[in-house]
Formats: sequence, structure tokens, C-alpha cells
Amino acid sequence: MTQPRLQIHERLAELADATRCRLLLALERQEVTVGELCTALQLPQSTVSRHLKILADEAWVTSRADGASRWYRLSSALDHEAASLWALVRAPLRETSSAEQDVARLDAVLSARRTRSEAFFATASEEWDALRTTMFGARPDLLAALALLDPTWVVGDLGCGTGSLTAAFAPHVAHVHAVDASPAMLATARARLEGHANVSVHEGTLEALPLARASLDIAVLMLVLHHVADPLRALREVHRVLRPNGRLLIADMRAHMRTEYQQQMGHVWLGFDAPTLEEWLTDAGFTGLRFTPLPVDPDAEGPALFTAVARTSF
Ligand SMILES: C[S@@+](CC[C@H](N)C(=O)[O-])C[C@H]1O[C@@H](n2cnc3c(N)ncnc32)[C@H](O)[C@@H]1O
Repeated sequence: MTQPRLQIHERLAELADATRCRLLLALERQEVTVGELCTALQLPQSTVSRHLKILADEAWVTSRADGASRWYRLSSALDHEAASLWALVRAPLRETSSAEQDVARLDAVLSARRTRSEAFFATASEEWDALRTTMFGARPDLLAALALLDPTWVVGDLGCGTGSLTAAFAPHVAHVHAVDASPAMLATARARLEGHANVSVHEGTLEALPLARASLDIAVLMLVLHHVADPLRALREVHRVLRPNGRLLIADMRAHMRTEYQQQMGHVWLGFDAPTLEEWLTDAGFTGLRFTPLPVDPDAEGPALFTAVARTSF
């Protein structure tokens, strides 16, 4: 049911109060809290709250809760009558010395807000990365950057392990096929990926992918190629399941000397260098290799990583 329209004399009554007009003048400039209004207008909280309630009840102002604070601003959807009336009242009001002082004090309040954030970042530069990790987890910036992926893409996370990359990609693309040879890794992946409607989990190997020809826009081999005895065979198979102009991303270790990984984790290859990859990728039908060493994470104990991106022909 629509609200009955207020009579003009009721609108006039709402504006026939100096405090309410001062509040509206402040609130048309910026969203502010009750505390900031009290400081700027030098009024007690009870007075500000009482008049704000009247203004909110009659839709002159809107508010939103944010933690312990409530933020107010002049409504951006005043009806025509209210907007015309306010335009009439505010013009002479703004010229008064009292309004000028309110504006100056409000500016000081807003600048104190900026100063607080400036002071925080002036001293927080050393701790900010750690604080951000505490607040939002490791590398939320990189998780956010995945929103740049094309939402129409069908992606293969080949050698998906426990499915962390699939889980990160799934919200941003049309579909992810997660493939791995290990039933145990896939069991963890399935539990993690439950609830993602656009994910299919398959048991299979890179050398004989359980995927149709030309079914992927993107294939990702994240830390898996060093386990594969015949990388050229696997890359030919990945080429088969990619569409024309499909993209391959390999992320793996650069060439290293950690022979203990062969015993500990069954690594077949002690990392890769760009010329070897170039040869395999060309043989497998890929073009346009872009090999990029990744920045080293100072807390990481393993070898340095690279990315290699290549594509299938049109
Ligand atoms: C080091 S884990 C990486 C998992 C995941 N990509 C990640 O970054 O967390 C390597 C995964 O590759 C799988 N794998 C090894 N050889 C494979 C092959 N030939 N075909 C498919 N998966 C394979 C393993 O079962 C394991 O889950």
C-alpha cells in the first residue's frame, strides 16, 4: 500500500525548526555519524538523535548501520514537494553565519577522519601486509584478480590435487573440470568443491584425459608436470582437449638441485627451464610461449616457481 502523501503544511512543520534545518544542511554534504554531527553542530546527542528520528520518520534522511555506528545522509529520493521546499529553505539558510560555522566545523570533523586514516597508514606500512593477512587471509588481492577471468570460459584444472585452484576459479568462469590421478586427493577435492554447481571432478591422468576433444578454453597444470614421466605425451593430450586459440598455463618449479624431492614426493623432474618447455610445447602444437619467473615468497622453503603460458592455433 502506498503511503498517503503528506500535506504541504506538515512538510513545512518539519522544516520549521532551526536544528532540523542545520542537520539537513550538514547531511546534504556527506554521510556522517551521530557523534560527528554532535561535534560539528555542538549539540548534545539527545537533541541530535531526537531530530534525526523525526527527519528519518518523514523520509528526509536515510541511515545505515555499520558496526557500532549509524551513518546518516540527506535522502537522495526526496519527493518533488519536499525537494522544492528544501531548495527554498536552504538558499537563505546557507548564507547565515551559523551555517558557515557548522560547515567549517564539519570540514574539521571530516578532515580529522582523514587524518586518522593517514596517521594509521603513516605508521602501518611495515605491518600492513601481516595485518591484511590476519584480517583477510593470504593474498586476497590475487583471489580478487580472478574476477578478471572471462565468465564464459570452460577451464580444466589438470592435476587438481585437493582442488584449491578449482575452488578459486569456479566463482568466475562457466565451468571447471577438475582432473587428478589420485583417488585420495580427489576425495578431499570433492569435499572442498561440494556446493559448486559448475564443477565436475574426474579421476584420470594427464596422459589420457577423461575429457572430450576441444572442450576447454583454458588448461591449467599447477605443480603437476614435474610428476609426469613423459611430459610431451601429456602436453599433446592437453592440446587435444583445448579449443582453437585455447590457453595453457603451466606453473611449476624452475630447474633446481633438490634431489631429496624424488624420494620424498616422487618428483620425476627437478624443475624445468624455458628452452626445454619451448621444445615440448612446440612439438605438442602450442605457440607463443611466455615464460615468466615468479617473484620468490621470502617465507617459502621450496624452489622458485615460473609460469609458462602458450596457446593452440586458431
Ligand atoms: C603437487 S600436487 C599439486 C596439486 C594442485 N595442482 C595444487 O597446486 O595444489 C600434484 C598432483 O598431481 C597429481 N598427478 C600426478 N601425476 C599425475 C598424472 N600423470 N595425471 C594426473 N594427475 C597427476 C597428483 O595426484 C597430485 O594430486
